[in-house]
Amino acid sequence: MQPIERIAQAILQAERILFITGAGLSADSGLPTYRGLGGLYNGHTAEGLPIEAALSGPMLQRDPALCWKYLAELGRACLGAQANEGHRAIAELQRLKPQCWVLTQNIDGYHRAAGSPPERLIEIHGELAPLYCRSCGQEDAELAGHLERPLPPLCRACGGVLRPPVVLFEEMLPEAAIDSLYAELRKGFDVVIAVGTSASFPYIVEPVLRTRQAGGFTAQINPTRTDLSDAVEVNLQGRALDVLPELLGHISSHRICK
Ligand code: APR
Repeated sequence: MQPIERIAQAILQAERILFITGAGLSADSGLPTYRGLGGLYNGHTAEGLPIEAALSGPMLQRDPALCWKYLAELGRACLGAQANEGHRAIAELQRLKPQCWVLTQNIDGYHRAAGSPPERLIEIHGELAPLYCRSCGQEDAELAGHLERPLPPLCRACGGVLRPPVVLFEEMLPEAAIDSLYAELRKGFDVVIAVGTSASFPYIVEPVLRTRQAGGFTAQINPTRTDLSDAVEVNLQGRALDVLPELLGHISSHRICK
């Protein structure tokens, strides 16, 4: 049986499913990935800093204009592109399977835009909007406008520096997202599929390992090898944009025949 048919079969038979997604899913929308070929983190900034230092909580504190220079680059890239058929295929699978969840590291908001139900979407690195003021907490939903004005964006109410609700380097993960992830992990998943992630964080690897150890089905969709390659049952070497719509096709056609 072809890898894609094995994944389709596992999803059809499963109740509880988790898609773990990373920058590779949005690479097909034209957004840069962070690591690997052409990744954002491979280089240093014009100031000679590793990008992880520029996009860190301490840098936003110490030099908001510098941090916002690189936040704005991410913001412009996300606002300048859109969700793709891979995001929409996942959203459709979530419609077909009421206990299908998404754990995403992406901050582009494309899963929501593609129709994934927010109550079954865990955005573990937050998202780019709405901005909020670090000093008074006032929200400001107008990211696009701020990117056209001098940075850093300042709060209209108190003049404090605005920031996006993303997890910057050296910052804690959002508590609500972590609580939701562990609540769902405690219930267990029948199937976990990692799509377009280098699996650089323990909270991304752990759901795969726990599901495998509990006898569930695990797979990865990625053109290259990652730290998960030897942990999953099925490796489907391919681009998300090519694989996910085909996977959805296998599943919906089977349902029709049933
Ligand atoms: N389809 C599927 N996978 C792809 C594609 C594609 N078209 N193009 C690239 N990939 C894969 C790469 O092979 C790589 O394994 O996507 C992965 C991207 O890895 P990263 O750039 O490390 O992105 P990600 O895993 O999401 O990074 C996690 O690191 O710094 C943080 O906040 C940042 O959310 C990000 C997190």
